[in-house]
Amino acid sequence: MFNIDEIKENLKTSQIGKRIFLLDNIDSTNLESLRLINSSNAKFGDLIIAKTQSSGKGQQDNVWNSPEGGLYLSIITVSKISELSNLITFTAGIACTEAIKSAAQINVNLKWVNDIIYKRNKLGGILTQSVTRGNLSTNIIGIGINANTKNLNINNNKYNVASLLEITGNKININLLAAEICNYFEKYFKIYQQNPDEITAKWLEYSNIKECKIYFTLEGIRFSGTIEGINKSGHLIVKADEKAYTLISSRNVEIIYN
Ligand code: BTN
Repeated sequence: MFNIDEIKENLKTSQIGKRIFLLDNIDSTNLESLRLINSSNAKFGDLIIAKTQSSGKGQQDNVWNSPEGGLYLSIITVSKISELSNLITFTAGIACTEAIKSAAQINVNLKWVNDIIYKRNKLGGILTQSVTRGNLSTNIIGIGINANTKNLNINNNKYNVASLLEITGNKININLLAAEICNYFEKYFKIYQQNPDEITAKWLEYSNIKECKIYFTLEGIRFSGTIEGINKSGHLIVKADEKAYTLISSRNVEIIYN
C-alpha cells in the first residue's frame, strides 16, 4: 500500500522527493511530469508516483504494462545540456540497483541501456525524457519496477519478466523502495554532476557486460563482436573483426550475457 507519510519517513534527501504527487491512476507519470513542466509548476526534485498507469511508456515506443503492485514513478531534475546527458539514465540505474538491494536484499544487474535485470529476467526499466530550454535540460526520469506484481509474463512475449515478489517470495515495502530510489538518486546525481567518470565506472560494475559477446547490425550488416566497455557518454564500445565500433542505441543489438 502506498503511503506518502511512510515514503517521507524514509527519505534522507534535501531535494529529491520533497514534493510528492501520489496518484491512483494516470496515463503515464512521465506524461504527468511533462504537463507539470509545461504549466511551469514543476520543481527540482518533484516525485510523481502512480498506483497504476493506463498508458505506461517504455523504451522504443513499447508499452509499459502497469498493473497495481508495481512501482511507477518519475523524478524531475534540471541539468546543463551536455554530451554526458545519457549518464542520467545510468545514474538512475545505479540508484535503483542500490535501492533494490536495500529494500529487497537482492543483487540485480543493469543491462545497457536502461534495463534492470535479475538472472536475465527484466525486473524494471528507465525512460528518461527531456525538455530543453537554452542550455538547460529539465529531465523526467521515469522508473518502472515490477515490485509486488505477479505473472507479468502472460502479457509479454518479448522478454522474460520477473517481479521482486516472485524472486524473493515476499511482498516488499514499496514505500521504502520509492524512498530509497530517491535517496540513492540524489547521492548519485551529485556524483554525476561532479565526477561523471564515477558513474560510468559504477554502471560498468553493476552491468557485468565487459567481454560479453554481442551481435549488432549497422547499415544492414550484421556483426558479431565483444564488448570492451562504455565511453564517457555511455555509448557502448565493441570490437568486431579487429575494429572498434561505438554503439549509441540498443536497437538491433543483442548482448549475450555470460
Ligand atoms: C523500459 O522500456 O524499460 C522503460 C520503462 C519505463 C517505465 C516507467 S513507469 C514510470 C514512468 N512512466 C512511464 O510511462 N514510463 C516510465
